[in-house]
Formats: sequence, structure tokens, C-alpha cells
Amino acid sequence: MLKRVLFSILDNISLAEKVAFRSKMILGEAIFRSFPDQESYVRIKTSVKNREIFLLASLYQPDTKIMRLILFAKTAKILGAKKVHLIAPYLSYMRQDKAFHPGEAINSVIFAELISHYFDSLVTIDPHLHRHHSLSEIYTIPTQVLHAGHFIAIWIRKHIKDPVLIGPDSESKQWVSHIADDIRVPYLILEKNRKGDRKVQISVPNIQSYEKCIAVLVDDIISTAATMIETIKHLKRAGIKKIICIGVHGIFADDAYQNLLKCGVYRIVTCNTISHNSNAIDLSDLISQSFRS
Ligand code: R5P
Repeated sequence: MLKRVLFSILDNISLAEKVAFRSKMILGEAIFRSFPDQESYVRIKTSVKNREIFLLASLYQPDTKIMRLILFAKTAKILGAKKVHLIAPYLSYMRQDKAFHPGEAINSVIFAELISHYFDSLVTIDPHLHRHHSLSEIYTIPTQVLHAGHFIAIWIRKHIKDPVLIGPDSESKQWVSHIADDIRVPYLILEKNRKGDRKVQISVPNIQSYEKCIAVLVDDIISTAATMIETIKHLKRAGIKKIICIGVHGIFADDAYQNLLKCGVYRIVTCNTISHNSNAIDLSDLISQSFRS
């Protein structure tokens, strides 16, 4: 069998170490940095010749990383790698999945074309599939979608007594209902109307009968946190006292994390797809399960 080597860009080192250990891969050494003029520099130090190579790179704040991914993948191939796979626990550019206004770029499609050109396969966790129903609609390489739901369910069962799960919009039903069924707890799905990048409206939930429960908001992405904040306001008005927010991918753009804390949320929990203080749910086992041989 080909030797498998896992590399990671700088901010994913701790997750990469766990994944490499669990899936018995060699951890490769590479340098990723910027020149003074902000151009990217990549140097692959571990031999990749005749090996199968995996690059773990979570693609939040993606624009600098993308150039590094391309330089890495192309160089690995030039150096003799048999295959170069991308593990992107958080997959960027999935939300602009149509031209909402004339002349707008459809990011998801163009980004998929780029990644498909340089990598041999892609593994990701709960990508934001809305208007695209599967990654194979836009990626031409093999893709594997993993789901954090079971790991979130285990965390909730262990840490929260009497939860009611809340999904802030219809898209969230896919994961919220799955988690609720997994641990046999009730759930509610609200209606969201996005008014702009940082402005959303949420329907008033019919939650009175759950007044004594702990409300657990679950969403795939927390970016500006506007969705969570708006939902929390409604829940508080409806008399809910204790609210916990769980996000698979905690992007926390600008001061989103502080703004969410200020709303009086009891706890903010995220999965470690993006390294952050709020990480409490480790998905290294989920990722490595997909490579175990
Ligand atoms: C959108 O449909 C997603 O599922 C999330 O609800 C959204 O990305 C959260 O974004 P924000 O934190 O900026 O409201």
C-alpha cells in the first residue's frame, strides 16, 4: 500500500495531529508563509514521491489560503506524489450559490472548478448545501461529505438536561431533526428571512410549552452571529431562561463572538473544524474514520 502523508496549514496543526494519529498517517512537514509583499510561499519538506498526500486546510478566511493550496497541490504532483487529496473541514464559498443580482459571480461553482482542477478528491464536514443538493453537482472530483450531527448529539446528551433543540431556519432542519432523533429530544424549526449580510429576521417561535427546558440553538455556521442573536432575542421574549448555542463551524467574523456573549447566552460551543476557544466537540475521529484502512 502507498504510504500516506498528512500535511496541514498552520492553523489546523492540532486537528491534523489527531487525525494523523488516529488514521495512522505520517505527519508531513511543510512551510506555508507570506513574503513581505503578501505573496504566498510554500515549501514541502517531507518526501511526497510515490506517496498519497492529504492536505488538511479549513477554509475560513479563505482567500490567502487558496493560493497556498494551489501551490502545494501542484508542487506535490511535480515532486512525484501519486495523489493529492484535500481535507477541508470547513468548505468555503458555498453560500453564494447563485447570482442573486445580475452580474454576480457564482462563487460555489467557480471555486469547485478550481479545487477540482488541482486536487484528486475532497473530504469536508457539513458543507452549506442549499441550492446545490450535493457537491457532485459542482465538483468533478470524488467528494465525501461527513456529518457532525452524531458527535453534537453525544455532547448534548452528556452536558444538557432537558434540552429543546432549535433550528433557526428551514435549512437547519436536516441536522437539527437528526440530532434530536438521535437523543430523543424535542425540536423546533423557525423561519428566517435574511435582509442583508448582517441583518436577519426570525419568526416568533411557539415555544411557551418548553419554558422550563434549556434551548439549544444548532446551526451549521456562525459567521456574523446575526442569526443566533436574533433567535436568542425571540427566545428570551418568549420566557426561555437558559440558551446554549452550538455551531459546527465557528467562523465568528469580526466581533461576532463578543456580540453573541453579550446577548446573555449561557454557553457557546463549536466543533473543532475551525480552531477557536469555543471548540468543545472534537471531530478528528469523524475525519479519520473516512481514511481508516
Ligand atoms: C445560513 O443559511 C446558514 O445556515 C447560517 O444560518 C448562516 O450562515 C449564519 O450566518 P450568520 O452568523 O452571519 O447569521
